[in-house]
Amino acid sequence: MSGGVYGGDEVGALVFDIGSFSARAGYAGEDCPKADFPTSLGVLAEEDGGAELAGEQEKAAGRTFYLDTNALHVARAGMELISPLKNGMSWVASFFLCKTAVLTAFANGRATGLVLDSGATHTTAIPVHDGYVLQQGIVKSPLAGDFITMQCRELFQEMTIDITPPYMIAAKEPVREGMPPNWTKKDRLPPVTKSWHTYMCNEVIQDFQASVLQVSDSPYDEQVAAQMPTVHYEMPSGYSTDYGAERLRIPEGLFDPSNVKGLSGNTMLGVGHVVTTSIGMCDIDIRPGLYGSVIVTGGNTLLQGFTERLNRELSQKAPPSMRLKLIASNSSMERRFSPWIGGSILASLGTFQQMWISKQEYEEGGKQSVERKCP
Ligand SMILES: Nc1ncnc2c1ncn2[C@@H]1O[C@H](COP(=O)(O)OP(=O)(O)OP(=O)(O)O)[C@@H](O)[C@H]1O
Ligand SMILES: [Mg+2]
Repeated sequence: MSGGVYGGDEVGALVFDIGSFSARAGYAGEDCPKADFPTSLGVLAEEDGGAELAGEQEKAAGRTFYLDTNALHVARAGMELISPLKNGMSWVASFFLCKTAVLTAFANGRATGLVLDSGATHTTAIPVHDGYVLQQGIVKSPLAGDFITMQCRELFQEMTIDITPPYMIAAKEPVREGMPPNWTKKDRLPPVTKSWHTYMCNEVIQDFQASVLQVSDSPYDEQVAAQMPTVHYEMPSGYSTDYGAERLRIPEGLFDPSNVKGLSGNTMLGVGHVVTTSIGMCDIDIRPGLYGSVIVTGGNTLLQGFTERLNRELSQKAPPSMRLKLIASNSSMERRFSPWIGGSILASLGTFQQMWISKQEYEEGGKQSVERKCP
């Protein structure tokens, strides 16, 4: 898609959406990002060796950084995994930071709507009205993808299922369902760090999450869950079994946190409440516009059954006369990329050009210049 579709000239802008789990980057005016990579960096201190392999620009202060899926997956002695978001970021040249919610709304062809973004660390409802974020109505809950990953890890512990990641496995023998796995370890593994090993284990769990789990279409009921068709899943070690009730029980906590182990007496809001609370904090006049376009985005919303359950909860919780509409792209790419796609559209608009913050402005005005120019 060319910038011309949106009436813009060649602007040569780069658009980033940097999440805590993954980052998306590409050119303004295009319809999908050029790159989608984990927001994690492999870091190797110089004395650990290996630095001579990397390009000059990747070295900084005696450390070597490894970025992108392929580079991260190589087992390297002493390579730690860090999140650059938690370690601060530096910005140069002209840029424009836009609240991802506004961009998501743009990507879905709306200037008004309630954006529900469930990613790795948070589920957030952000009301957007005429292209502006209504700050007072933002509601956040820590029940999102990482929370599901943690629950799956506990399930595997309880069932004593081994989550050995593929990097350790040299060969495996087929075993019957439910039988202990039979695999041999690679014999020349470098001494990897705990942070890197944990990341590799989390990837195994995340695949399980996406393949096996399903959000129940009505509040969890043990009897109903027991009738659930089972799903067969094989771990990298070769161990396989069928999962039934767990498929529904684990993601239930997203919508009804009251029964989650370890969260007793918690005050966290389930996904449906996050939405209704957010809309309830906005002016009564604009509520119909928000209920009329609830835009669902973020990787965690790709859990099977997520939007169906949300739709059901909202139709029960919303005032009876309210017209309710959920907007969720069927394409999993678009669901994860919509903040980026919105940025791409915005940055290619002709009128956008006066909104850039130059390097000079940022140096003079600092953070305030961002708040002032990025409503
Ligand atoms: N198909 C899928 N089914 C279930 N969960 C998925 C699927 N794809 C991704 N996820 C989960 O979605 C989460 C990542 O979502 P996303 O890429 O939107 O996060 P992010 O924007 O990087 O993070 P955040 O918004 O929290 O900063 C992870 O927890 C991942 O396990
Ligand atoms: Mg995100």
